[in-house]
Amino acid sequence: MASDQKKEGVLKRLLHKVYEKKQNGRYSFTKIGRMNTHNITDAPTMRAIFRDMDHFAGIEFVRKTFKKLVGSALIMDEGESWEQMHKILFPSFNPLAVEKNIAPLALEEVNKMLDRWEKQGKVGDVETEMKYMTGRVIMRALFSDTVSEKDGQFIIDEIANAMGGAKQPKGFDRIKRRLNIPYDHAGFLPPLARRILGYGQDKAASVPKRFTHAAEVLDKAIYKIIDERKKLSVQPDDILGRLINARRDGKPLSDGEIRDQAIMVVVTGHETTAEGMTFSLLELLKNPDKQAALRAEFNAVAKDGKLVGKDFNRLPKAQSAFKEALRLHPTVFMSTREVAADTDLNGIHFQKHDIIRMDLRKLHRDPEYWPDPEAYKPERFEKDKFPQAFMPFGTGPRVCLGMNMSLMEGALMLSQIFSRVDLKPEKLPDGEEYYFTTRPHGTLDVTATARPQAEKKAGPAITPPKAP
Ligand code: HEM
Repeated sequence: MASDQKKEGVLKRLLHKVYEKKQNGRYSFTKIGRMNTHNITDAPTMRAIFRDMDHFAGIEFVRKTFKKLVGSALIMDEGESWEQMHKILFPSFNPLAVEKNIAPLALEEVNKMLDRWEKQGKVGDVETEMKYMTGRVIMRALFSDTVSEKDGQFIIDEIANAMGGAKQPKGFDRIKRRLNIPYDHAGFLPPLARRILGYGQDKAASVPKRFTHAAEVLDKAIYKIIDERKKLSVQPDDILGRLINARRDGKPLSDGEIRDQAIMVVVTGHETTAEGMTFSLLELLKNPDKQAALRAEFNAVAKDGKLVGKDFNRLPKAQSAFKEALRLHPTVFMSTREVAADTDLNGIHFQKHDIIRMDLRKLHRDPEYWPDPEAYKPERFEKDKFPQAFMPFGTGPRVCLGMNMSLMEGALMLSQIFSRVDLKPEKLPDGEEYYFTTRPHGTLDVTATARPQAEKKAGPAITPPKAP
């Protein structure tokens, strides 16, 4: 019996090897101890995995760790409970809701930032600016103006520390590249492995500890906010108000459920977009002709130098500029799954508990899907708005809840920024690094100069597409 199983195991590994060759580098299989890992960057196979929630679920040990921070929030949920919560949350993030409720906040915040940039000239680190701006947007979308800027920033800072505050020990860089451990995910490794790799020296670097600490601090703040909001006779029209008014199986959500979803929205909803914006600005600074295209588009669309939410549909160039930055630098660089039940897919046998790693960065730079893959070419998205090998938000039923929000924020903000200021790079990052999100390695520092009024108001330089 045992030898039959062994034979079967060897056969499967051989089959995987054959498949690995056939897939032209888009599939590989590794076995470390009892952990089978399938590395996949074949677009159709990835799409099939993303869509099949019966056979592919979240990785159990990663979920256990994340639960320390976000509890049972949507991102950790499965099955019927996930479906119910998705129904409650999605109405806050569908395109119309984003256009009505979130786009105005994004435009207000970007214009406030630009007022400051125009005055101070020297902007400094763009990533910090973007995080602050998108942090303000998510806090206001969640709590409207019922939470002060100071209290909102406290919550954002706690989450930022939990998600990536830890410094990586020296020397780890080389090892992690060789082992292809995705970066801060090493914080999930067992203590001994962490110690060997250099993580053990720095207690703060342990992801579970950081999450537990942040949750303790955040609980006090969030429960106080929920408590105060529940005393109001009418809830403000914001995400928290909608969560408080929501009913599941006819009953209101518990404070714990509301807390979990609120923290998840902050965790997932600001750094991701901020990094997308930072890389968009970096790429646009290297491509002045693309900046000119954004300005021409802005002038054709904006009334009196101001954009409104529904202009999003008339800004295809700004949309493409943001998407192309997410192609080259997908904020979420790796998507993972654990096999929930044995299954076969596109010639690969998946066994219960196998791990699947889908490297979005590699997919997005595959020369067969993307000719001239290293070049920043927003025009790629003009004909096909979502090519099949473009998955920065995942796909299928669990596609990113904030996709519409992020795409709208990104396009409106980029368009507004280049219409108002000329940016000059003072310092460029020398690459990327990967924690939970893709970030620039080193900083992008810029100075800003207000563009002359006449140019800002210059008439239509191109014919804008009709609003749908
Ligand atoms: C550029 C910005 C963003 C990127 C690149 C991004 C990326 C992703 C990806 C790849 C997934 C799917 C992971 C998987 O299936 O393995 C995801 C899920 C999710 N994202 Fe985003 N995201 C972004 C912005 C946002 C924003 C603004 C929110 C705001 C709430 C958000 C909330 C979520 C949530 C809640 C999920 C889990 C959905 C579910 O499991 O049903 N994301 N995101």
